[in-house]
Amino acid sequence: MENTVWIEQLFWPFPWRSVRWRSSCQIGIAGEAPWGLPRRSTTHELHGQMSFFSKFLKLGSHNMAIDLGTANTLVYVEDQGIVLDEPSVVAIETINGIERVKAVGDDAKMMMGKTPDTIKAVRPLRDGVIADIEVAEKMIEHFIRKVHGKRTLFRYPEITICVPSGATSVEKRAIRDAASNAGASEVYLILEPMAAAIGADMPVTEPVGSMVVDIGGGTTEVAVLSLRGLAYTTSVRTGGDKMDEAIVSYVRRHHNLLIGETTAERIKKDYGIAIIPEDGVGETFTLKGRDLVNGVPKEITINQAHIAEALSEPIGAIVEGVRIALENTAPELAADIVDQGIVLTGGGALIRKLDEHLREETGLPVSIAENPLTCVAIGTGRAMEDPIYRGVLHTA
Ligand SMILES: Nc1ncnc2c1ncn2[C@@H]1O[C@H](COP(=O)(O)OP(=O)(O)OP(=O)(O)O)[C@@H](O)[C@H]1O
Ligand SMILES: [Mg+2]
Repeated sequence: MENTVWIEQLFWPFPWRSVRWRSSCQIGIAGEAPWGLPRRSTTHELHGQMSFFSKFLKLGSHNMAIDLGTANTLVYVEDQGIVLDEPSVVAIETINGIERVKAVGDDAKMMMGKTPDTIKAVRPLRDGVIADIEVAEKMIEHFIRKVHGKRTLFRYPEITICVPSGATSVEKRAIRDAASNAGASEVYLILEPMAAAIGADMPVTEPVGSMVVDIGGGTTEVAVLSLRGLAYTTSVRTGGDKMDEAIVSYVRRHHNLLIGETTAERIKKDYGIAIIPEDGVGETFTLKGRDLVNGVPKEITINQAHIAEALSEPIGAIVEGVRIALENTAPELAADIVDQGIVLTGGGALIRKLDEHLREETGLPVSIAENPLTCVAIGTGRAMEDPIYRGVLHTA
C-alpha cells in the first residue's frame, strides 16, 4: 500500500471508476458504469511521468491534519491553520427505511436530544475510538469536502490524523480506512499525546522528559515524552463525557430530576470545578429537567459544591492515571518532570481548579496549555508541515 496511489477522485463525479496507480507506474482501471457497460480493465505504462501527474493532481489541493475527537473534529490545512472546528455529531434521517445524512457537525449537535423518531443524532466516536465506522466515514468525508469546497476534481490531499495512544491496530486501521475512503491519497497517523505535546510547544525533540495530560471527551491520555517518542503512555477511558454522565446521575440521585447530556455538559462548562469551593458552596444556579416522581418539568437550585461532588469520581480516575504514569516513569525522566512540570491539554483541562487539584495530588508544577482545545490539531498540523517532527508520523 506504501507505493500505491488511489486516484479515484480524478474521476469524480464518476466515482465507480476506481483507478489504482502502482509504484511500477501502471494504471489499472476497474469498475462498472451505472448504465451497465461491461467492466473495463486497461493498463498503461507511464514511464517516468509519475511526478508530473502527481503534481497535476495536487493542484488546488492542500494537505490536511485532522484531530478526529470524540467530542470535536478539527481540521488544519497546510499553510492556513485551523479552518474547521465542529462537534463530531451526525444526524441521520430514515425515510421509507432508507437512511441519509441530514446534518453534520454544529447543525447536528443542535438536534441532539430533540430529534423526532425519524431522525437520530449519532456520535460516531466513543471513548476516543470509532464506534460506528460508516457514520464516521460520512462525517470525515463531509468535513473534507467542506474544507476543500468546490475543488473536488483535484482533490488529492495527504491526511495526517491523530489516534489515541491506546488504540488497537484494528481501531487504527478503521481510522485509516475512513480517511482513505473519504478521499485521502495518503494517510499518516500520529499518536494523540504526541500531537498535544507538539501543539503545546513542549520540547518533544530534545532529550528531556516532559509529561502531557490530554483530557478529551472520551479519553484522558497521559504520556511521558522524550526524543520524539513516548517513553510511557497510558490511556484512561474517562474524559468530558464521563463527567457529563456523572452530573446526570448526581442530579437524578439527589434531586429525582432527569436532565439530558447537553444540559449536563453546559453545567460542567459553566460551573464545573475539581475541588469544593473555598466558601463550601461557590456559585448557585438553577437547573431544569423532568421530575422522575410525577413526570412533569421541574426546576431546582444547585451549587458548585454539588458539581464538585458529582465530578469527584471521574476526576479521581484522571488523577489515578497520572499517578500510575509517574510511578512507571524511568528515574532520569521523572527528574526532568520535576523541573518541567505537567502540561494539561484537551477541553477537560478547562475544568476550574483542576490544575490546582493535580498540583496538590502530585506535588509537581502543573500548567494549562495556552489553547487546550486546539493543541492536538495544531500539533498534528505542525508534525505534518515541519520536517523536524517527521519521525513522529506513522503509516499504519
Ligand atoms: N470550559 C470547559 N470546561 C470544562 N469542560 C470543557 C470546557 N470546554 C470543553 N469542555 C469539554 O471538553 C471535551 C472536549 O474536549 P476535546 O475537544 O479536547 O475532546 P476530543 O478531542 O473531541 O475527545 P478525545 O480526545 O477524547 O477523542 C468535552 O467533553 C467538553 O464538554
Ligand atoms: Mg482529543
